[in-house]
Amino acid sequence: MVSKVKVGLIGCGAIGTVLAEAIERKLVVCDELVVYDFESWKAQKLKSTIKFPVTIADGIEDLIAVKPKVIVEAASQQAAKEYVPKIVLAGIELIVMSTGALLDLDVDLSKVHVPSGAIGGLDALSSAALAGIDEVVLTSRKNPKAFGVDNREEKVMYEGVAEEAARKFPREMNVAATLALTVKPTKVKVKVIADPKVQRNTHEIAVKWQFGEMSLRFANDSHPDNPHTSALAAWAAIKLLQTLLKT
Ligand SMILES: NC(=O)c1ccc[n+]([C@@H]2O[C@H](COP(=O)([O-])OP(=O)(O)OC[C@H]3O[C@@H](n4cnc5c(N)ncnc54)[C@H](O)[C@@H]3O)[C@@H](O)[C@H]2O)c1
Repeated sequence: MVSKVKVGLIGCGAIGTVLAEAIERKLVVCDELVVYDFESWKAQKLKSTIKFPVTIADGIEDLIAVKPKVIVEAASQQAAKEYVPKIVLAGIELIVMSTGALLDLDVDLSKVHVPSGAIGGLDALSSAALAGIDEVVLTSRKNPKAFGVDNREEKVMYEGVAEEAARKFPREMNVAATLALTVKPTKVKVKVIADPKVQRNTHEIAVKWQFGEMSLRFANDSHPDNPHTSALAAWAAIKLLQTLLKT
């Protein structure tokens, strides 16, 4: 008998819901979606809106026990810190959205996949990293409401390195962690700006490396339910999930 292909999802918020809708639309091919959210009403809400077989798990152990082919973490850095070691131990392929959590975790990352999230071009950056990168500078601008402030002029919220940016802004700056993981051990310089002139989450990445320069710019609409999150991040998870399910 051919066994069912199950996808696990931790977190039924903005990203989790877009991902579930993509599964419903058959953009991602699987037989069952198994979800866990510590706010169980969110899991119930997702199940009731998706016309596709959805099972609700009672906890992380319950989710691991059904042996999904791939689990997607779309919850929080705190959740990722707690659950990633357990999922890695179970040998299940895992997509981590809250990439800031991976900076401090000492686990085998061979089955842990980092999506490009709210940015892109990681293929070029990781290629350049092999040859040698001199400098990576990330400048992120978001509307003040994404930071819960209401300044009228642009305001630098943070200037420093990626690891600290991801810790200080666990919901907004996973992008910095993703870059840090990509170009490790090169340090990524980060500037975070609350800018009332921007409506979109804007990430500019400037790279100087051994054989040239790169400049990348992303201006992403935020998810309507969550101003912290760029819509592109959910689509990056969907794309990676598609790829992993084909292997
Ligand atoms: N890598 C990237 O580029 C990128 C981009 C955007 C968002 N993110 C990150 O992805 C994650 C999800 O984003 P979102 O916009 O969907 O968030 P969200 O707040 O809309 O949804 C998160 C859901 O996870 C649930 N949750 C939180 N902690 C949990 C736990 N410990 N156990 C079980 N469920 C838990 C919440 O109840 C909520 O329903 C966040 O950490 C966010 O910062 C990463």
